[in-house]
Amino acid sequence: MNAIELARAIPKAELHIHIEGSLEPELIFALAQRNGVALAYPGVEALRAAYAFTDLQSFLDLYYAGASVLRQPQDFHDMAWAYFLRAQADHVIHAELFFDPQTHTARGVPMAVLIEGLSSACLRAAQELGISSALILCFLRHLSEADAFATLDAALPYREHFIGVGLDSSELGHPPQKFERVFARCRALGLQVVAHAGEEGPPEYMWQAIDLLKVQRIDHGVAALQDPLLMAELAHTRLPLTVCPLSNLKLCVVKDLREHPLKTMLDAGLCVTINSDDPAYFGGYLNANFEQTVAALDLTREDVLQLARNSFEASFIGAEHRAACLARVREVASV
Ligand code: ADE
Ligand code: ZN
Repeated sequence: MNAIELARAIPKAELHIHIEGSLEPELIFALAQRNGVALAYPGVEALRAAYAFTDLQSFLDLYYAGASVLRQPQDFHDMAWAYFLRAQADHVIHAELFFDPQTHTARGVPMAVLIEGLSSACLRAAQELGISSALILCFLRHLSEADAFATLDAALPYREHFIGVGLDSSELGHPPQKFERVFARCRALGLQVVAHAGEEGPPEYMWQAIDLLKVQRIDHGVAALQDPLLMAELAHTRLPLTVCPLSNLKLCVVKDLREHPLKTMLDAGLCVTINSDDPAYFGGYLNANFEQTVAALDLTREDVLQLARNSFEASFIGAEHRAACLARVREVASV
């Protein structure tokens, strides 16, 4: 097996996937029809043609519009189930899914509806596909601290259905500091904590995520390259970074995949992982991200193996499950 074949076949964990970002245009139109929601595009092709993004915000505007077709538990279930089928094809054996409750509750969809639909799909993925999974509730950082606190309160009756919290949406102008008190409360509740930082924002936002939010992983974090002290800190602590190469390309964070910093980060000893972010919008699921990154950066078999190991090291699974996953990685790598 060469590096690309190994990348395809190796068992992996996906740790940075916004489940609303897995909503394919075909499913958006099917759900719009099912729920009687009007869309601004005449059809699937026209919608897909609009997926030409210039930055994060230009994507988010379409992403939130797409999510507006989700109304019933079954809609959320169908969306997540479609993702799990794609994940299985890419040899994902564990997935930690972000969801954005404020996008839905603001439209009058109750928290119970989305959590019921998503958790039933997670349960089904374990039973029918052998994929373990967990949900991570993300706060939208363009909204207020008070809105985040209210969202947390609304979600707490369903505490057993999610393992942690994250921070996403428009990064610039909304530093992690804004949510310091919300994250302190989440940590006190025993939730795992992660945050998007250093996607479009500066290394300073990554420092804030580490020092103020006390995150256990950083989502994206490609801005670390601009700060040698931060690179040294990340190499020392092995605080994981969930990197999303095709997302960075489509949102113009990098001009060309050959200029992506992932290999430099890996060589510096950082615990980087590869993820798909919003695969329906960025042109590919997890294996597409692996394949194109391996080709563009000339990654070796050893790099691929390290990325797979990192994905389990960075995941929130227990020690026993982690050991079993790593054994499956070794098995495939030794063929
Ligand atoms: N929400 C969905 N995808 C996102 C991304 N790449 N960055 C910030 N917020 C997001
Ligand atoms: Zn993301």
